[in-house]
Amino acid sequence: MPEIHPHVPILVNDVLEHLVTNPNGIYLDGTVGFGGHASHILKKLSPDGLLIGMDCDSDALSYTTERLSKISQNNFKLIHNNFRYYPEILKKLKINKIDGLLLDLGMSSYELDTPDRGFSFNSNGPLDMRFDISKGMAAMDYIHSESEAGLAKVIKSYGEERYAKKIANSIVQCIKAGKMSTTYDLREAVLSVVWGQHRLKSVSRVFQAIRIKINDELESLSISLINAEGMINIHGRLAVISFHSLEDRIVKKFIQRSSLSCICPKEIPICVCNQIPTFNKVNRKAIIPSSGEISHNPRARSAKLRLAERI
Ligand SMILES: C[S@@+](CC[C@H](N)C(=O)[O-])C[C@H]1O[C@@H](n2cnc3c(N)ncnc32)[C@H](O)[C@@H]1O
Repeated sequence: MPEIHPHVPILVNDVLEHLVTNPNGIYLDGTVGFGGHASHILKKLSPDGLLIGMDCDSDALSYTTERLSKISQNNFKLIHNNFRYYPEILKKLKINKIDGLLLDLGMSSYELDTPDRGFSFNSNGPLDMRFDISKGMAAMDYIHSESEAGLAKVIKSYGEERYAKKIANSIVQCIKAGKMSTTYDLREAVLSVVWGQHRLKSVSRVFQAIRIKINDELESLSISLINAEGMINIHGRLAVISFHSLEDRIVKKFIQRSSLSCICPKEIPICVCNQIPTFNKVNRKAIIPSSGEISHNPRARSAKLRLAERI
């Protein structure tokens, strides 16, 4: 019987094939979660290899410590922190460079399925949505402290939601009526002003927007990619699994730009930028899950894996 874990990892074979190219290397899984990818990476490493796992979620880390200990006692370390701080964390561990970095973005199935974490609009719970419940501002505090215009901007830019202004106004009315403390309150605030058969998509986009905002997700991703240039060894690999277009755009643009040998404006006849390319694309297009994987794990449906090699 295969073991059942709180989260099913996505595109595992592709991640393993393309990320782990040196069994004696040091690999960082910045979103180690329940150790789905990490357990496979660890199995591929020799006794000289090392896996570092980071996650904001301490529940996940307790589980993963036990899970990985069954594979190896000595060649993994787990750290409770935001992956955006990985250069500092590695420095403290006296590690200068790594051979691969994996980021499997967003939330785990456990986080989504635990009503108390406030990520899901399908179950009622407090409006929290923090990956790290030990710090930062919960969604409820953010929503209550933000202006209507500020809410509309966040819903528009991080949710790409066309009814952002209407929804922001509805949220503010609910706050005034004392009805904005649970996930169902937020869901209702959206459903009371958006009509049509796709209205749940609007709810989903609003939850995504607030989650991105309070966890500062896009900034963490951008900073981590920029730092990858200095932290990954030559021939080492970067692998990012994203779940929506805002994340994927950042990853795609980063890889595209860092593979260029000139970034001078087109009008300039000779190159003056002295740009040195730092990454090469491993695959021309993003890798997406097969229909078989999606039928076993519907949460894989929007995943995109992009890979690059440090040159
Ligand atoms: C999709 S899950 C990863 C699942 C993992 N790959 C596995 O196979 O079990 C994403 C994880 O990233 C964590 N996370 C999200 N943003 C983070 C950040 N900036 N720093 C650290 N962990 C983060 C979440 O808490 C969650 O556990």
